[in-house]
Amino acid sequence: MKIYVFGLREDEIEPLNQWKAANPDVDVDYTANILTEETANLAKGADGVVAVQTQPYSRHALEIIHDLGISKFSVRNVGLDGFDFKDLNDFGFTLTYVPVYSPNAIAEHASFLVGRLLRRVPEFDKKFQSGNFKWFPTIGTEISGKTVGVIGTGHIGSVFARIMQFGYGANVIAYDIDPNPALENLGIYVDTLDELLEKSDIISIHTPLAPKDHHMLDADAIAKMKDGVYLINCARGGLLDNNALIDGLDSGKIAGAGLDVLENENGIFQNEFDSVEAVNDPVFQNLAHRDNVIITPHTAFYTERAVHNMIFDSMNDNKAMISGKEPKNAVDTHK
Ligand code: COI
Repeated sequence: MKIYVFGLREDEIEPLNQWKAANPDVDVDYTANILTEETANLAKGADGVVAVQTQPYSRHALEIIHDLGISKFSVRNVGLDGFDFKDLNDFGFTLTYVPVYSPNAIAEHASFLVGRLLRRVPEFDKKFQSGNFKWFPTIGTEISGKTVGVIGTGHIGSVFARIMQFGYGANVIAYDIDPNPALENLGIYVDTLDELLEKSDIISIHTPLAPKDHHMLDADAIAKMKDGVYLINCARGGLLDNNALIDGLDSGKIAGAGLDVLENENGIFQNEFDSVEAVNDPVFQNLAHRDNVIITPHTAFYTERAVHNMIFDSMNDNKAMISGKEPKNAVDTHK
């Protein structure tokens, strides 16, 4: 049995070697390249493929994998917005994903973004670098007592809600089209997204990017928010309309934003430039030069535990499918 791994980063080599040592019956080969129509043929001879990437999976690349006789496809991450499920179904793929590699990784990161914004850390960092150790006028605000609105209360959103409520003493409210029974006893759910938008001082979004949710937070949604709201997005860039965000920051409607994802992040994140200024993207330039915007390059997930689990869970599921066994995290691509 052979599994071919696409997009393997250096930090994934060690956990992959550990998995290989525990599964000597599986032949594993890999490339650092992501899956594209140019690289798809590398999987020749494999029974299954395992991939991760923020770039969309093209129909043609999937067709090549299919033509190689491979139908078992596993991704090492949670978000599935890079696929058109029709392509997967047309080519008869069975897909697995890793829905809970470490909800804490992302939820903790989102909470750090809140803390760094409210305590004006970027401004203090700049002052520090210039030798200015004065407090005034960089006074912060506290999370305690603030109303934190959590949109999406799956694995990640529910950890974030608990951190905010029990760790910081925030008044947490939440909205989800499918409320999480594990959170019902906290009494945090509001009935509509609008109610959450209207009541929250800080809003953090933790939903997948379904096509219907593209620009869920657009100019209309932002208009409904409190003046001076803080926005956190560690989910998917496409959930937030960048132009509406910029208008909101310009007018002061939005007091600050913590962004681990950007709609236009491909080609920027995971690349190295000579300087921030060398990034040729007006939206990025606009956001990157504001003291009240913190951008992290899609690193919320990036912890040792998460990377280990992403490798192990995806490889286990790919092997299970090839062996004719039930994988732990199958995706229903026909829904
Ligand atoms: C995900 O798990 O969907 C992420 O956003 C992480 C990234 C490695 C694709």
